[in-house]
Amino acid sequence: MSDQFDVIVIGSGPGGYVCAIRAAQLGMQVACVEKRSTLGGTCLNVGCIPSKAMLQSSENFDEATHHFADHGIVLGEIKLDLARMQARKSEVVSANTKGVEFLFKKNKITWLKGTGVIKAAGVVTVDGVDYAARHIIIATGSESTPLPGVEVDEKVIVTSTGALELEKVPGHLVIIGAGVIGLELGSVWSRLGAKVTVIEYLDRITPGIDNEVAKQFERVLTKQGFKFRLGSKVTKAEKTATGVTLTVEPAKGGDAETVEADIVLLAIGRRAYTDSLGLAAVGVETDARGRVVTNGHFATNVAGIYAIGDVIAGPMLAHKAEDEGVALAEMLAGQAGHVNYGVIPGVIYTWPEVATVGKTEEELKAEGVEYAVGKFPFTANGRARAMGMTDGFVKILADKRTDKLLGAHILGADAGTLIAEIATAMEFGASSEDVARICHAHPTLSESVKEAALAVSGRALHI
Ligand code: FAD
Ligand code: NAI
Repeated sequence: MSDQFDVIVIGSGPGGYVCAIRAAQLGMQVACVEKRSTLGGTCLNVGCIPSKAMLQSSENFDEATHHFADHGIVLGEIKLDLARMQARKSEVVSANTKGVEFLFKKNKITWLKGTGVIKAAGVVTVDGVDYAARHIIIATGSESTPLPGVEVDEKVIVTSTGALELEKVPGHLVIIGAGVIGLELGSVWSRLGAKVTVIEYLDRITPGIDNEVAKQFERVLTKQGFKFRLGSKVTKAEKTATGVTLTVEPAKGGDAETVEADIVLLAIGRRAYTDSLGLAAVGVETDARGRVVTNGHFATNVAGIYAIGDVIAGPMLAHKAEDEGVALAEMLAGQAGHVNYGVIPGVIYTWPEVATVGKTEEELKAEGVEYAVGKFPFTANGRARAMGMTDGFVKILADKRTDKLLGAHILGADAGTLIAEIATAMEFGASSEDVARICHAHPTLSESVKEAALAVSGRALHI
């Protein structure tokens, strides 16, 4: 047996590395196993961070190409240097992954480089060497869900990983799945000049998002050039000399058609990743979707083995994984770690952004909860007009009887930042009246949040 640790975390994504740091802060001897050559997991290497770098760059390009002239700024010919854009993205990723490496050193966390296998409760093997730990934490994340008949090569038929690495702008990008990845990465390549078609199984985009927001979001994206084929499924993808021929069928049955694509992005969801961990041999229970089963304290059915992040149930979001990492480390130290699953915001970083927290109207109806709705459009917000970004609205849902905030759904510029106010208010059990009485600076987009809160009781001032 080699070294002895209090905690060994397997996987250094936002769940794993944050858990490792918090455990080290609390005085534990911590190691983190990571098989990738850099720390930070999916999020920092091939997920949140590179996608946001490309979204920012492509948004700047789109602004310069289509919107600067509205502001009286006249540029000469605008050219795209995709190689530079990709290099910048890599620099951003590298700064972040090196940042985690620095934090590991600062907190005296040992990085065990290689693939971790759980040999038994209390023992993790990394590339043939055994390490002992009182607690083992599985934080191995997720991977792209495959689709039979569509074979990914990460060159022509890609997942998000390949879609972030394209060396030229595709003529026609066909995306399978109108979810978060499809719409964010579709936005990147659409802004850079690709024709984008999205094929979605359901008859709506972004399942799980408030219906009204999703409908208006679809209209805005369509105006930006997205073509949606809803209620359709791809049954085959054949590579040709020039690209890919997709066979597309109506989801509910009917005649098949073919669609030609230069690049196909498969984005129909992600699934828990537990390959080569040795879970079956140790007897760790997984559910029908391959997720590690945990109780309210992140414990698996095997004593001393825990799991957090994308590999367990719940939304596959970096901040959810982080909060679970902190809560678990605190529980292991005898503190009262806690995650409030009712208040986990979700953001789609398109333009405009979509941000949600709490319940949707559909969920409240299904639960039989009586609620009041307050809405305010960005067309009536002075700052949004000044910015030239008036698409979208803020919608606040509150309990009809008590006025307690139940949820908020925003389509609009900087929605991801605006939702934080509602998340904070919900954490404190606030009412819409509470938010309406907070003094919001003028002129800011956040005044739309206040107005939507006022609108819950029919008192909006600017509509
Ligand atoms: P991961 O980040 O997946 O990390 C798991 C790590 O474990 C990996 O580095 C893997 O190499 C390692 N590993 C696995 N098995 C082993 C083993 N046996 N031994 C050693 N190491 C192992 N979420 C957001 O909240 N906001 C966003 O903007 C956002 N954008 C995204 C964009 C894209 C394109 C993608 C794909 C995802 C995005 N996500 C976003 C989701 C987010 O990346 C995940 O929710 C998050 O990374 C989950 O963290 P995790 O720690 O559970 O696992
Ligand atoms: P998703 O679950 O968001 O969307 C998948 C879409 O594909 C759904 O609309 C679904 O109905 C559709 N679909 C499923 N099977 C299909 C089929 N056979 N044919 C056509 N459509 C099909 O999954 P996505 O976009 O792959 O993202 C995975 C996860 O990554 C997200 O759920 C999210 O948790 C995370 N993520 C988060 C981001 C953020 O927070 N901004 C950004 C990117 C990813």
